Amino acid sequence: MTRIRHNKRNRYCCLCIIFYFIIGCSFFITKSNLNDSLQSKCLPKNPDNEIVDRQDEWEYQNSITGQWYHWRTVYKRQNNPTEWRVNWLNVAPKSYLGVIVYLAPYGEFKSLQTSLAQLSHLLSNNPRPIAIFHEGDLSDNNIQQSLAQTLGNHTPLTFERIKFSNSPIQPGRAHRRWSPKYFHMCRFFTLMLPSHPLLTLFTFYWRLDTHSYILGQKPIKDPFDIMKKRNIQYAFTMANIDDELHTHGLWSFFHEFLKEYCLKPSINFRETQTSWFNSYSFAIIYTNFAIANVSLFRDHSLIQAWLHKVDHNGGIYRYRWGDAPIHTLILTQLISRNQLVRLRYFGYMHRNEYVCANGIKGYLCKAQTKPLFTDPKTTYHYQPDGCNPSSGNPLCHYYPEIIL
Ligand SMILES: *[C@@H]1O[C@H](CO)[C@@H](O)[C@H](O)[C@H]1NC(C)=O
Repeated sequence: MTRIRHNKRNRYCCLCIIFYFIIGCSFFITKSNLNDSLQSKCLPKNPDNEIVDRQDEWEYQNSITGQWYHWRTVYKRQNNPTEWRVNWLNVAPKSYLGVIVYLAPYGEFKSLQTSLAQLSHLLSNNPRPIAIFHEGDLSDNNIQQSLAQTLGNHTPLTFERIKFSNSPIQPGRAHRRWSPKYFHMCRFFTLMLPSHPLLTLFTFYWRLDTHSYILGQKPIKDPFDIMKKRNIQYAFTMANIDDELHTHGLWSFFHEFLKEYCLKPSINFRETQTSWFNSYSFAIIYTNFAIANVSLFRDHSLIQAWLHKVDHNGGIYRYRWGDAPIHTLILTQLISRNQLVRLRYFGYMHRNEYVCANGIKGYLCKAQTKPLFTDPKTTYHYQPDGCNPSSGNPLCHYYPEIIL
């Protein structure tokens, strides 16, 4: 009796094992098939194959030899690089860690002068070389000498002449009130600047506009040194919200890019760029002040692929896409949270918006900014923590803030 029962139980167990084995096997097969089909759905493009080295119509001139060169949008490391020769006014750079760059027309001479005076004062402990890109209207020797004097003879200064092409792309009707120069400026800062040979001499570049004034009472700690010591790739000071009118189609275009390279929106991207129901937050880094590793926008293959895709699309000219949203989308997607920071240990003013260093408020802030309120017709807006809007801008306090 006992034995028979035993046998029955054994047979039962055996059936069970076979049953579970079959279930397990079929589950495994389905899963690996699913994986295969998912994989076959997403084969990432090789970014290096997507970058077209256009021999652009844009040109730049060497300030010593006078020779003009076609401006390539791709920087190719040469085996035997001929170093770019620079005509430095005042003094030659002592260090090539960083360069401060402007793109300036003569029409903005006065604000450029103010911007340089602020730099000269705040960086007096450690003057950094400054390069002013222009279209020939700052070639005059008297103009150059007067700006060199504004800086004082410890700050190296150079002028780099460039030539924009006549873009064949017509801006959309909504954007025709902008001068053609404005669109060129956007393209210049989006992808052209890092491939200019002057930049190859330096590790970091610091972009400022003619209406960008850094401010504070005392000389500040050198931001390039901080970037290098803390392994920071990109730094900014203010965040803003872009106008919907200036980002037409950019959101879906970026998602197209993500799909092409089988990328999922990163956490940083989702937290700062995505709003309700996967819509665009329009939050932008205020890129009129930006310090970046030169190599970032020049050698990073995915960033290059994105910038070339944007350039090829023509949206900079057609829709007035700015370098701010173009850079913000890709930086939030690819750069890790501790390598992208907001510098808050000095104040900054751009046109009519300003912020003082972290902790400088009220009377003290007013004393620092008042001399810069030079236009009686302008209403100046104080942004207490450097963000517009002050609350509800997802970029505002997301990245580490350096307050020293
Ligand atoms: C700049 O970026 C490149 C990679 O693109 C990296 O190799 C280099 O270490 C970075 N430089 C600094 C100073 O962080």
